[in-house]
Amino acid sequence: MRTGSAEVRGYNAGAMLLHWAIALAILFQLAGGFAMMRLDVLPDAGRFAFFQWHKTVGLLVLTLTLARIAWRLLNPPPAHAPMSRVEAGAAHLVHGLFYALMLLVPLSGWFVVSASPTAIPTLLFLSEHLPWPNLPIPAAWRSEGGESVAATLHMVLAYSTLALLVLHVAGALKHSVLDRQASFRRMMPVGHLPRQSTALLAIPLAVGLATLFLGGGLAAGQGEGAEAPALAAREAPAAQPAEAGGWVVDKAASRFTYEASFSGKPMTGDIAGWTAAIRFDPADLAQASARIEIDAASITVGDPFVRSSAPGPDGLDIAAHPSLAVALDRFEKSETGFRAQGTVTIKGQSAPIEVPFTFEPQADGSAHVAGSGVIDRLAFGLGTKNDPAAQWLGREITVRFDLRAAPAPALGT
Ligand code: HEM
Repeated sequence: MRTGSAEVRGYNAGAMLLHWAIALAILFQLAGGFAMMRLDVLPDAGRFAFFQWHKTVGLLVLTLTLARIAWRLLNPPPAHAPMSRVEAGAAHLVHGLFYALMLLVPLSGWFVVSASPTAIPTLLFLSEHLPWPNLPIPAAWRSEGGESVAATLHMVLAYSTLALLVLHVAGALKHSVLDRQASFRRMMPVGHLPRQSTALLAIPLAVGLATLFLGGGLAAGQGEGAEAPALAAREAPAAQPAEAGGWVVDKAASRFTYEASFSGKPMTGDIAGWTAAIRFDPADLAQASARIEIDAASITVGDPFVRSSAPGPDGLDIAAHPSLAVALDRFEKSETGFRAQGTVTIKGQSAPIEVPFTFEPQADGSAHVAGSGVIDRLAFGLGTKNDPAAQWLGREITVRFDLRAAPAPALGT
């Protein structure tokens, strides 16, 4: 038995536009999602950005699907070529499932991100100005377990879309090639098929719904961003009095900075709050020492992704460890200047550090001291949960200093 009218019509322009935009985006998501989960397929520098593009395009699929549903409500599908009840039923089922998956796949992806304890933000188009909020899920679901359940769901639903896509294309091919009926052509902007008329009210409805969703999400994201903990530059701790025979560092003319690599590019930041107690005489290295204390909250992070997790437990854990310390006690001459050795303490864990530096006495009695030290962030539990294999954030962090100091007045003067 055959159903349907003899007059086959094509879809209108709005339906075609949304159909092909969503289809292209889903293909990109399926191929990209597959590739990014097998990370060595993507170049190092692009991996992190790729995740963000996956989230951006996925949320656009959700937005366009809302618009497509609004469009379809006012523009029901045009009559198709006659087909058996079974075929018509199968086509309806596939289309219905498609709509369900077009909503559920992006929603489950959004759920993965929202349940993830790593708190990596979603920035649409990688823009710091377009933060997207997490789903308001119960706090107890935000765990590795919750994330893993959501990821499995997302994967199963995503690959179900692929299976459905195969059925969908096979059905259209069968009708077009074997039955020689207008099927593909109904969704093609070329050809002589009469088009379904357009209910113009669908334009403001579809655009309005899409704008409401995207605009609402971005507005909520701005609010979330404002609450997110950030490594704000705080007032630097009061300078400690210099030890007798030591040096008084001119803080206004001195700088501590650091550099790491993130997603294949250099990521730099400033260390604004610190105190330094230095004893150094090039002629008496045995007595030399340096104690530097750094206010953890004063460390600025250039990259918005790292910034969001830097103050938390997987980062510097500022609440529990408000300061970092460097103690240098062994000084020796080197080919290029001097070398100091000692320990660095971050999050209560200490590790040895070597600091090559130059010491240039100035005509006015002051000195210019510049150097650097490298730390292995994994030795201090920095980002061990978020990126233990250093796929995005490099293991090495180079801290540089450029100091201007004057000899401290002798005791009693
Ligand atoms: C039509 C929309 C989407 C499609 C077709 C899609 C497809 C995929 C695919 C095929 C994978 C790889 C699964 C695997 O092989 O393990 C994946 C992973 C992922 N997707 Fe999507 N995705 C979509 C939307 C989204 C959205 C909107 C988000 C977040 C806002 C998202 C976040 C993720 C995440 C975080 C993963 C990695 C999951 C894990 O850690 O196992 N996706 N996606």
